[in-house]
Amino acid sequence: MELLQGLFIPNISPTLNDNIHFMIKVENLKKSYGDVPALNGVSFEIKEGEFFGLLGPNGAGKTTTISILSTILEPNEGKVTIGTYDLKKDPGQCKRTIGVVTQEIALYNKLSAYENLMFWGSLYDVPADDLKNRIAETLQLFGLADRQHDKIETYSGGMKRRINIASALLHRPKVLFMDEPTVGIDPQSRNLIFEVLEKLHKEGMTIVYTTHYMEEAERFCDRIAIIDKGTIIAQGTLNELKNTGGLKESIAVTFLNLTDLVKTKIGTFLGGEFKFEENVLHSYTSNVKTDLSRLIIGCSEAGADIVNIEIQKVNLETVFLSLTGKQLRD
Ligand SMILES: Nc1ncnc2c1ncn2[C@@H]1O[C@H](COP(=O)(O)OP(=O)(O)OP(=O)(O)O)[C@@H](O)[C@H]1O
Ligand SMILES: [Mg+2]
Repeated sequence: MELLQGLFIPNISPTLNDNIHFMIKVENLKKSYGDVPALNGVSFEIKEGEFFGLLGPNGAGKTTTISILSTILEPNEGKVTIGTYDLKKDPGQCKRTIGVVTQEIALYNKLSAYENLMFWGSLYDVPADDLKNRIAETLQLFGLADRQHDKIETYSGGMKRRINIASALLHRPKVLFMDEPTVGIDPQSRNLIFEVLEKLHKEGMTIVYTTHYMEEAERFCDRIAIIDKGTIIAQGTLNELKNTGGLKESIAVTFLNLTDLVKTKIGTFLGGEFKFEENVLHSYTSNVKTDLSRLIIGCSEAGADIVNIEIQKVNLETVFLSLTGKQLRD
């Protein structure tokens, strides 16, 4: 990995003016497929070097958004700016600035990984000698140098995905779009992809990543937009999203049994928001650490026998649930 330091520092992308501090600006995108509305006025901005997550359930509009941003699809309305370029007026410059990893893997099965990379690299006018060096480095990075001359049809799903991502990086894009790149692949490939993404992010690449896995969004993204039914319903840093609507962590305490007297005693020392459901007390707090010990001591003093305690932290799933009334995952 040491040798590869700086591998992806872009050299053909636009220099941004001092007064432009976004890399991507999306304004009021609308798109329908016939009568099926897919995007209802999507807007967001992504800063240079940001790892931006587009999180949403199946059919939310993630692929439609990414496809428009990567010039694969035209919107019905709206404007996209990438770097200093207007996507509609200057699609060629935009294409040179971006690398795209589509949801469906696009590779030639009858060709080897090396031949696939030569093909995809040559589409971007990378000079032949440079291309060979970049392919060698990229194959190392993705741990597939020893399999480079095997046909893609002999590869596992995870290996295909690694080559697919490698092919999007050969022209050293300043921005990388990735549409659910870890769905259905083995843990080893997934971890390797995560390592590469972390490295690219550290080197300053702007990454736009769609997923319906909240764990991935929580782990990697500087900022996240939550999309549902073609509408961005919330966006911000993880902490900003967690504070949406004053959401609180919950502590669920199950008791052996509860009398009304004990419930009253517990109620008097709890103070904050809480409710009883049969033998379970749900207490809502913005500070689990201090409230948990207070709660255990108080319950014991009230003479209640605790049999179980569960802490539900606020996460993106909770945020999504509170905004839409449904689960992020089907
Ligand atoms: N080619 C198409 N023709 C008709 N409707 C489409 C087409 N592509 C997408 N849609 C519809 O547009 C909406 C958004 O789809 P899109 O593929 O952008 O969602 P997504 O968030 O990428 O979903 P997934 O997580 O399943 O990939 C959905 O209602 C989908 O059924
Ligand atoms: Mg999709």
